[in-house]
Amino acid sequence: MKYLNEILGTKYPIIQGAMANIATGEFAAACSNAGGLGIIACGGMTPDILREEIKKCRKLTDKPFGVNIMLMHPAADDFARIVCEEKIPFITTGAGNPGKYMDSFKKAGIFVMPVVAAPILAKHLEDCGADAIIAEGCESGGHIGEMTTMTLLPQVCDAVNVPVIAAGGIADNRQMRAVLELGAIGVQVGTCLLGSLECPIHENYKKAIIRSKGSDTIVTGRIGGTPVRVLKNQMAREYVAREKEGATLEELEKYTLGSLRRAVFDGDTKTGSLMAGQTCGQVKELRPCEEIFASLCKGIDFSKENDSKITA
Ligand SMILES: Cc1cc2nc3c(=O)[nH]c(=O)nc-3n(C[C@H](O)[C@H](O)[C@H](O)COP(=O)(O)O)c2cc1C
Repeated sequence: MKYLNEILGTKYPIIQGAMANIATGEFAAACSNAGGLGIIACGGMTPDILREEIKKCRKLTDKPFGVNIMLMHPAADDFARIVCEEKIPFITTGAGNPGKYMDSFKKAGIFVMPVVAAPILAKHLEDCGADAIIAEGCESGGHIGEMTTMTLLPQVCDAVNVPVIAAGGIADNRQMRAVLELGAIGVQVGTCLLGSLECPIHENYKKAIIRSKGSDTIVTGRIGGTPVRVLKNQMAREYVAREKEGATLEELEKYTLGSLRRAVFDGDTKTGSLMAGQTCGQVKELRPCEEIFASLCKGIDFSKENDSKITA
């Protein structure tokens, strides 16, 4: 099977993971210019802002880029229409089933890559017309499922015939090689890019990532069914404690209202939500995106086909 760079027209087989309130048009352009596929994240945007961010991205890069649509976002219908009108070549989708938009995506010639956390959903989305599947293990930052990349990825590769991209827990060359061995044609990364010079998060957030160890994340929202991996801090500990005491979803939502923005824009490392995956412990210094991508891919020949899919 071809590697992802051949499909995307990029230097590296790497997608910059969508990150709500972080993955702006400018950051996506920086990632595309660095040789990956930059992705603008709609989470935290309005439809008008998305149009603006697409415009900005086009000004800053002539390389391919994409858009991520969070399907549970109240403006998901508008975002789906905009990506078609703007002729965005690649989209990733999260938090649900993009089935109802698939016809319009196909008519617009869009390559659709849903993010999944379970093999059964991967199969279903392939049947709905997905062009590739991003299998995201629960090592990742942000909203997560139950399975690890190690268990999820081979099972998704077995379940579908379309190409599979690995996400969750990939931040260096060893992990890149491991997921290629498991059958992935490329990767999507998020946490390691929080440690990039170009990433537009507050410097307190970056410092917290660099200081953290791999065991410093915690999952909030497990009881309520919306698990999110974040760095341990006052907010995360209190959230989990309140959950255990039986707080209602409304109470918990009120408590975390605006917490990602507080972390990203204000650098509030106590009551902000510092979303991050378990590879945070591998981020030791700030580096340019280009260096991060090059080190992930060091010594791997992506001009050949990936014939390393080992079957059980
Ligand atoms: C801060 C942060 C915010 C994220 N926000 C989103 C999002 O808005 N939409 C989405 O589909 N995935 C989101 N993700 C997941 C990433 O796109 C990506 O799949 C994940 O980070 C890959 O795993 P890693 O963190 O181990 O590299 C987020 C991840 C992080 C770290």
